[in-house]
Amino acid sequence: MIYVEGYQNTIEKVYRTGNEHVFAFWDALTPDRQKHLLQELSHINFEELENLYALTKKQVIPMGFEPAPFTGLPQTPEERKDFDNARAIGIETIKNGKVAAFVVAGGQGSRLGFDGPKGMLPIGPVSNKTLFQIHAEKIKAYEKKFNVEIPWCIMTSEANHDATVEYFEKNKFFNLNKDNVFIFTQNMIPSLDENGKLILETPYSIFRNPDGHGGSLTALYQSGTLSKLMDMGIEILSYFQVDNPLVRIIDPVFIGFHVKRNAEVSSKALKKAYPEEKIGVFVKFSNGRIGVVEYSDLPPEKQNEKDEHGNLRYLAGSIAIHLFNTHFIENITKGNVTLPFHVAKKSIPKYSPEGKIHITGYKFEKFVFDALPLTEHNFILETKREEEFAPVKNKTGVDSVETAQELMINLYTQWLIQKNIPIPKVVEKIEISPLCAVEPDDVPATLLLPQQKEVYIS
Ligand code: UTP
Repeated sequence: MIYVEGYQNTIEKVYRTGNEHVFAFWDALTPDRQKHLLQELSHINFEELENLYALTKKQVIPMGFEPAPFTGLPQTPEERKDFDNARAIGIETIKNGKVAAFVVAGGQGSRLGFDGPKGMLPIGPVSNKTLFQIHAEKIKAYEKKFNVEIPWCIMTSEANHDATVEYFEKNKFFNLNKDNVFIFTQNMIPSLDENGKLILETPYSIFRNPDGHGGSLTALYQSGTLSKLMDMGIEILSYFQVDNPLVRIIDPVFIGFHVKRNAEVSSKALKKAYPEEKIGVFVKFSNGRIGVVEYSDLPPEKQNEKDEHGNLRYLAGSIAIHLFNTHFIENITKGNVTLPFHVAKKSIPKYSPEGKIHITGYKFEKFVFDALPLTEHNFILETKREEEFAPVKNKTGVDSVETAQELMINLYTQWLIQKNIPIPKVVEKIEISPLCAVEPDDVPATLLLPQQKEVYIS
């Protein structure tokens, strides 16, 4: 066993848990790197990791559940009235400066394989603007529309934090007030190999992954951002994922219903397109609490179950758009309520003297929707897929840049059609800058499109 004064406790734990392979290159390390490795090891909670590894051997069976009730799109005049009323309440809440935006952008984007923070991925089908720029311009547009400053929280992780901050600084925060943009990191947790052991990423560091989007609530609190927001009078956080360029970041109707229903957390849902679609479904657990069951945990018989009208019984899919009350986040984080970890078997890069190799191992992540069962009051609102969901997950095929751009072009084309704006035959691609419109009503009725293949309306 190696001996280093001040670290004996840590070193003993490493040996006791069968992780001594992390010292395989010890003798070749400089003293600084030896210290770096020991520092990292001293922050690892080995007991927690043992418990998490035990999870990989268990099949997690969620408690009994049935489909969760949700509010569908308005069909009748009364329902439309209810939506209009929600919109009015939402607008008032936004104008009173009670709402902030919150994007989670700490993921590793491994499926996409993009070099750099996913938010820096060019996505505008004509403009080539990045995801971050499109989100920033939407926020700028809502600020103008509602005549209020809207703070923006951006959660990053160790690997992409500096690049994200640098990007925003270089672009002057896309004309947002930089004092109202809060960029902070989430926690990391070691991944494990198939035998439950730590993995070396370099000869002197351990491979760790960000602790999932569910780590965002703790990160908000630990970074001090939550208390800053609460001091500013923010009551509601509008949560979204960085990889959805269609998200309506500030939605008055959604916010209005959230307030009307006195909800602590509200969520948007869309109708699943087909039983195997890889999105979680909203459920009501047998203890009466609302939650989300991941697609991988939904047994096939439930996945395919139909109601008396022939529709999928588990129809309401979660698209990771939520509203969180700041008081609710404060209560659970201050009360040290932590969300559970889930296990994902993934390819993990491992150091070897011959070069990096990829092994199969386990990553542990928290999911933000696990906060839902902690609520007394919540609300689920249906939205239209084509208006609000264009996930960018993969390099090619399903949920890729190509499919997201197609969805963006389709939506912007619809907005023009709705406004009776003639679209010349030659036009193949249309993109509307958020600075021009964040909803069809904003599109100027007098717009004249040029005779060209690609049109950018700014
Ligand atoms: P995904 O679960 O789709 O992960 O994240 P990902 O990192 O984008 O991609 P893969 O799975 O590695 O291919 C959904 C959203 O949650 C954020 C991501 O940045 C994305 O906005 N996220 C995910 C975090 O902020 N932190 C995490 O630890 C995980």
